[in-house]
Amino acid sequence: MELESVKKIYDGYSKVYDTLFKRFFYPRIKHAIASMEIRPGEKVLDVGVGTGLSLKLFPRHATVIGIDLSSEMLRKAREKVETDGLRNVKLIEMDAMDLNFESDSFDKVFISHVVSVVPDPYRVMAEVKRVCKKGGKIVIVNHFKSKNKMVSGFEKFINPICKKIGWRSDMCMDEFVSRAGLRVDRISKLKKVDFWHLIFTTNLK
Ligand SMILES: C[S@@+](CC[C@H](N)C(=O)[O-])C[C@H]1O[C@@H](n2cnc3c(N)ncnc32)[C@H](O)[C@@H]1O
Repeated sequence: MELESVKKIYDGYSKVYDTLFKRFFYPRIKHAIASMEIRPGEKVLDVGVGTGLSLKLFPRHATVIGIDLSSEMLRKAREKVETDGLRNVKLIEMDAMDLNFESDSFDKVFISHVVSVVPDPYRVMAEVKRVCKKGGKIVIVNHFKSKNKMVSGFEKFINPICKKIGWRSDMCMDEFVSRAGLRVDRISKLKKVDFWHLIFTTNLK
């Protein structure tokens, strides 16, 4: 996955993203944010905020910075900020692999449906850990390959097609957690059979 092609693909998705994906993604985004226990005055970073499906779910008592590579996805997010009067939200065009924030800037970081989209998920996680305070919470929502051999075989088979349309389908959760050096508090799913996981972690730096 090359940065420029990812940007082009998501610029292209921007107009249809909510129609195509909201019903799959929104319930997990909602559940994850509700579980983040965001306190008054906290500063939250939403990495790869996309069209901003998450934005009005964050409590207004927190400051939310959403970053994304795609200016067109951000345009949709800006429309939501405007329509919903989200004065606690700021949106910035930025590469998640090279975050333009000082270290220890955020109390909490939310990353939904992004780690299997970026060219280098470990660079993203290193950046996220840097900008999040020690002891802060990092929450990841993502599809990871199934532990069922038949399903994961299929996910591997379709991976070349998935990469062409903007994500990897063969990412292994255990490898991701271990290589990213994450201290996992808990992992959950919205339903018993679900392709997406919610990973709640504490940043140990
Ligand atoms: C599948 S969408 C997820 C959007 C949103 N988080 C959600 O859950 O609906 C992936 C998003 O990641 C963004 N993205 C991909 N690579 C990125 C990068 N290197 N830096 C920042 N954003 C990136 C894309 O532009 C796109 O908006």
